[in-house]
Amino acid sequence: MSISTKALIESFAQAGQGQVFQFFDQLDADGQARLVAQAETIDLAEVDALVAEHVKAAHESKLNLDGLQPASYKALPSKGGDSAQWKAAWDAGSAAIQAGRVAAFTVAGGQGTRLGYDGPKGTYPITPVTEKTLFQVFAEKIARSGERFGVTIPWFILTSEINNDATVAAFEAADYFGLDRGSVHFIVQGLVPAVDCEGKILLAAKGKIAMTPDGHGGSLRALVRSGAIDKMKAQGIDIVSYFQVDNPIVQCIDPAFIGFHVLGQSELSSKMVPKAYALEKVGHFCMQYGTALVVEYSDMPAELQEATNEDGFIRFNGGSVAIHVFDRDFIGRAGGTGEGAKLPFHRADKKIPYVDASGETIKPDEPNGVKFEMFVFDALPLAKNPVIIEASRADDFSPVKNADGVDSPKTCKEDQLRMFARWLKAAGERIETDDSGLPKITFEISPRFAADEADFVAQWGGLDPKPAITEGTVIK
Ligand code: UTP
Repeated sequence: MSISTKALIESFAQAGQGQVFQFFDQLDADGQARLVAQAETIDLAEVDALVAEHVKAAHESKLNLDGLQPASYKALPSKGGDSAQWKAAWDAGSAAIQAGRVAAFTVAGGQGTRLGYDGPKGTYPITPVTEKTLFQVFAEKIARSGERFGVTIPWFILTSEINNDATVAAFEAADYFGLDRGSVHFIVQGLVPAVDCEGKILLAAKGKIAMTPDGHGGSLRALVRSGAIDKMKAQGIDIVSYFQVDNPIVQCIDPAFIGFHVLGQSELSSKMVPKAYALEKVGHFCMQYGTALVVEYSDMPAELQEATNEDGFIRFNGGSVAIHVFDRDFIGRAGGTGEGAKLPFHRADKKIPYVDASGETIKPDEPNGVKFEMFVFDALPLAKNPVIIEASRADDFSPVKNADGVDSPKTCKEDQLRMFARWLKAAGERIETDDSGLPKITFEISPRFAADEADFVAQWGGLDPKPAITEGTVIK
């Protein structure tokens, strides 16, 4: 054994993590080398601090609620917002897109355990008729927005070491969905070890440490470490449109949102939707002594979540839907190593398959360990001039999280159908729907045809002849 390997094993033992090497002698030379290489990537001091803060200490919310107020936001014109302001924002955003200042950024490094799908979540089929995958939907939306504004919009995609190869292979197999390959950039995010409830690092196999991605908040440091920020700078990109891989109805490139960000000289802008009900499990946009922040539902007492204004409306009404616009240099700062810029880690209790002391692999039915994750919205308090705008849930947010029930493929397909029906109605067509707006037939509007309602109305107006909308129609 080399001196450096000995020293590495010793450092793990001293940190109380000697179990990582308990099967070392049973591994062949390649297996030993792989485990050593993996162990070398681990920052033991960081793990130690995370365990002390999140595993050993009683984990109750440390959030100070003093002075907490709901954050103000730009209301939609249909909800009393100033339409002239929205028009000015749309114009400013369009100009920024046309000038090539905007990139799309999808975070797809998560493990998607709740959906239980074997493969990167972006390869999950999601459209109601042609079963396009999530990645294809975004690719086509980005292509359509580029066509609309006469530019090629670069697309950055966050993966993790766990799903990067499979993600790249899916893009290769689909010939990048017709996009220019040079405009698609994969960024691999960092991993942190998972620990058991005593803070001991878990083994996924005798020669493999259980590592998990460092959360969507890790996207910021991944963009910095990978050099993507420098690449953006070299290409004149200073606006990054951020969305999650699980939300196919998101407006990937929303001119009005980008415009509010630009006009507000904001470093980080966010979309909010009014909560569906008081105790909805979403983060809440708040202000605290002049600083904007998102407070998770789990950190906010129920009476505050349910509190109402004099008019009877829910006071903390701004739900976060994980749609943001970032200033490039702000990402450089918030994802960098400078003082005060680091995002905090949070604890997530999860079911983590592991190898026990006897060498047997255990697949737990209940959470048995802890993952550490950074959350992207923790960047909000670090940002200058944050802007929050209202979005319509129906036009921007229907995530695929679970295999069944709420936020499942079924609900998402229905939300897509409702959106398509609304767009057709906005274009003056008749389509039969139920009370919830769900059409009686299943059809599809290709994202390649239109990126949003206004785009659809314009495109549809130019179609001659127009197709009949019947079961299975695809408007493309
Ligand atoms: P979720 O919080 O829904 O997590 O991620 P998840 O890992 O996808 O799914 P579960 O909790 O295991 O079921 C929200 C978004 O953030 C991305 C996900 O890919 C998704 O787009 N994400 C999450 C990352 O990119 N990296 C991470 O480390 C975690």
